[in-house]
Amino acid sequence: MKTTLQIDIKKTEESRLPETDFDNLVFGQSISDHMFVADYEGGEWKNLRIEPYAPLHLNPANATLHYGQSIFEGMKAYKNVEGEILLFRPDANQKRLNESAQRMCIPEVPEEIFMEGLFQLLDLDRDWVPAKAGASLYIRPFVFATDDYLGVRPSEKYKFMIFTCPVGHYYSKPVSVKVETKYTRAIEGGTGYAKAAGNYAGSLYPALLAQKEGFDQLLWTDGKNHQHIEESGTMNVMFMIDQTLVTAPTNTGTILKGITRDSVLTLAREAGVNVEERFLKVDELENALKEGRLKEAFGTGTAATIAHIAKINVNGKDYILPEKNDNAFSNQVLRKLDAIKYGLEPDTHEWIQKV
Ligand code: COI
Repeated sequence: MKTTLQIDIKKTEESRLPETDFDNLVFGQSISDHMFVADYEGGEWKNLRIEPYAPLHLNPANATLHYGQSIFEGMKAYKNVEGEILLFRPDANQKRLNESAQRMCIPEVPEEIFMEGLFQLLDLDRDWVPAKAGASLYIRPFVFATDDYLGVRPSEKYKFMIFTCPVGHYYSKPVSVKVETKYTRAIEGGTGYAKAAGNYAGSLYPALLAQKEGFDQLLWTDGKNHQHIEESGTMNVMFMIDQTLVTAPTNTGTILKGITRDSVLTLAREAGVNVEERFLKVDELENALKEGRLKEAFGTGTAATIAHIAKINVNGKDYILPEKNDNAFSNQVLRKLDAIKYGLEPDTHEWIQKV
């Protein structure tokens, strides 16, 4: 993309690269040297800049702290064998950020600002993209309100920022999940589809209760009747029942439109797998588990990639799923996706953008 945007760059005087242990990356712990920042004021995005990653100075009356006008995205960049940086579907993240923005009354971020800020940041911090298989650079774009005002109304000022972190696996082992039938993550007409900070805040307490019982995550059910599966706390969720891949549809406004979800469904259809985007009833899930017809269950997400589910608790009863094996669909699709992301296979879907 040709740009006329002016982005001021102030480089760090002391890189944190030498003290970063790329062999032991913990998700979200090591942050790269720089961040991109833009301010929204007077109805326009301005002051585009890249500066050393540093704390923010906020007034205690900052609107985000009180009313939660805050949205974010997650995407990843990879290094191919030639050392080039490959970004996976940034255009999809840019679109989704603006869908979230609309729902949360936040001004949209123009494509040019999102892409140019992102590309220049990655270019500057290219040495932070891990070169190891299984590792990548996680990218966190986000927008939040910056008015210092306690009245309840949409803020007039915002910041759009991007920072990045080299990461390994989000889940280091197959996960155990519990079907949640008391608490609610999202309801039709609510904000469930938006990548809004508050959605995650509201899910923490029920997830914590499940963690105390020994589960890694929840399988959220619909907020009205708790009768069908929607998604998991950090990812969309898919079930292979007999030979059919079943996952919740995204047209109710209660489910995040996952980019990994969409990529997996595309590859599944191309591989001739029967895909059903429909709600899976909790009863149907339990029957499939009892009858041994649930061959695989897995989460899909940018951070989680493909997370194998090893155990599902339904109505207080634990069901153990078949062990992860190389021929399972989830492993095949993970290998295929990785091959595309690391540039080992032709990118026939135009998902990759080189930095
Ligand atoms: C992502 O997968 O990028 C997310 O935003 C999920 C988050 C819980 C890490």
